[in-house]
Amino acid sequence: MKLEGKVAIVTGGGTGIGSAAALLMAAEGARVCVSGRRPSPLAATVDAITSAGGQAMAVSGNVASAEDTQRLVQDTLSTFGRLDILVTSAGTANLTAVADMTESEWDETLETNLKGTFLAVKAVLPTMVSQASGTIVTVSSILGQRGMKGAAAYGASKAGIEQFTKVVALEHAGQGIRANTIAPGWVETPMTDTLPKDSGLRKFISSRIPAGRFGEPEEIAHAVLYLASDEACWITGTVLTIDGGWKAQ
Ligand SMILES: NC(=O)c1ccc[n+]([C@@H]2O[C@H](COP(=O)([O-])OP(=O)(O)OC[C@H]3O[C@@H](n4cnc5c(N)ncnc54)[C@H](OP(=O)(O)O)[C@@H]3O)[C@@H](O)[C@H]2O)c1
Repeated sequence: MKLEGKVAIVTGGGTGIGSAAALLMAAEGARVCVSGRRPSPLAATVDAITSAGGQAMAVSGNVASAEDTQRLVQDTLSTFGRLDILVTSAGTANLTAVADMTESEWDETLETNLKGTFLAVKAVLPTMVSQASGTIVTVSSILGQRGMKGAAAYGASKAGIEQFTKVVALEHAGQGIRANTIAPGWVETPMTDTLPKDSGLRKFISSRIPAGRFGEPEEIAHAVLYLASDEACWITGTVLTIDGGWKAQ
């Protein structure tokens, strides 16, 4: 098993990409703590892991709160005794044109996605530095690299995550800590459920994906597992795009 003996925290671990990553890492031997605001999706992920014979726990909280992210790390350490992996999948997407966007919509997107990533990383660093090991996988998007109308706040937050993660990688490369980002394309999750299955927009997007379809959360989880595992031991400060070929165009 690729993560035998390791302990992982997954923010946004109750649904979508975060849940799939939590399940896959647990299947590879990690003990996993999932976090998010709503207890019920977290409980579903924990149940799925424990039913499959793995070990998991949940801590509810808001990633935009320093107090909540500190508590997340302390509770994980109290229960599992160590901390090796952080996956920051918590995120929100607000697709509003700049002219129509309110200040509070902008703030919520940046606070959840960018500040939330900063706070989670800041909360795990003391443990990872003191043990001189650890790996961090942050979650961007192809919209952090390519423009799309309506994605100003979302794209800015994701571009910020990529740049932030590179700096974390540089600042801690000499301390046994790796930090990388994944940049998924369009993936079937609750975030994209807002696009009805038979809508013209969804068909248009699918027609623009060279692979011809949206990705599945499990397909993104394998990239998370790879970056989190020792197989990626010399990879740090990079962005791995998983997008069915979208960005190759
Ligand atoms: N789906 C895509 O096409 C796609 C593409 C590229 C990148 N991504 C990124 O992938 C990540 C996961 O998204 P997803 O597609 O898996 O959608 P999702 O199922 O909606 O996952 C987002 C998760 O973040 C949690 N979350 C949101 N705001 C939070 C907050 N303030 N504090 C704590 N947790 C919070 C949500 O749980 P609660 O609501 O319970 O808090 C939810 O579990 C996001 O960062 C997203 O931007 C998705």
